[in-house]
Amino acid sequence: MNNALKDYLVNCQNRVERALDARLPGENILPQKLHEAMRYTTLDGGKRMRPMLTYATGKALGIAEQHLDGLACAVEFIHVYSLIHDDLPAMDDDDLRRGKPTCHVAYDEATAILTGDALQALAFETLAKDPSIQASAEARLKMITTLGRASGSQGMVGGQAIDLASVGTQLNLPELENMHIHKTGALIRASVTLAALCKADLDDSIYKKLDHYAKCIGLSFQVKDDILDEESDTATLGKTQGKDKDNDKPTYPALLGMAGAKQKAQELHEQAIDSLNSFGNEADLLRDLSLYIIERDH
Ligand code: IPE
Ligand code: IPE
Ligand code: MG
Ligand code: MG
Ligand code: MG
Repeated sequence: MNNALKDYLVNCQNRVERALDARLPGENILPQKLHEAMRYTTLDGGKRMRPMLTYATGKALGIAEQHLDGLACAVEFIHVYSLIHDDLPAMDDDDLRRGKPTCHVAYDEATAILTGDALQALAFETLAKDPSIQASAEARLKMITTLGRASGSQGMVGGQAIDLASVGTQLNLPELENMHIHKTGALIRASVTLAALCKADLDDSIYKKLDHYAKCIGLSFQVKDDILDEESDTATLGKTQGKDKDNDKPTYPALLGMAGAKQKAQELHEQAIDSLNSFGNEADLLRDLSLYIIERDH
């Protein structure tokens, strides 16, 4: 990882941490256990890839960071909710997440369900009213629609449904791609397009290029997640390694072999970079993040 990216990641993680903390209800506010669980799962953990993409898109478009905090938090709230529910016994049944016991293990299943529910609602409340977002009411509605579509039955939740229905079955490549584009790609795509929606006068062709970049890295992100599940270790990942095989999940390495999966990730990275051709240095962070996604070790 180059030094500029390392500095950016650290700065961004600190910024996101403060922004999330400020928007989560305090642990002393009733119901205390629920608020404690929301803070336990959201704060102090994770790579914060989606917020980083929001800020990096802002950089490419000349939008100040302080106007992106609400968007970055909204996307991260949805992501954390998706992780809490993904780890439940009814889904992947995982007991380790971000190096800590999962929400249903640290608390209980009902609290984990409610924590996810509450974070999802908080995401939309944030989009609707957060003062950091400088956008017209019409643009806010577009943002709410974008995040709703990306997280619902035709986005992340739809992908999770396909994932669960596919356990123990053999998907072909287009089917696997479709599952990954939904369960992981949709929210990553929204992390980029939400920032683009802040720019009232943005040219449609620029929006489409950013959207295509985001589609490519959204897929490469899950291809790499599948690779890491097989190749990495539990301590580095902060989640239990080898769960995809244990749960009989269709993955890229299972379908294409490890070399084929790595080749696919590389091709998606190259496509992502190509989509940014018309940008100059202002999009270097987006380029670096695409490479980071396929080279990361956790
Ligand atoms: C894990 O996402 C779940 C997927 C959608 C693949 P991340 O790898 O971004 O998890 P954190 O946020 O860093 O914990
Ligand atoms: C999860 O995919 C995608 C989500 C929407 C949370 P995985 O089930 O592969 O994510 P991990 O490996 O548990 O983080
Ligand atoms: Mg899963
Ligand atoms: Mg999982
Ligand atoms: Mg995984």
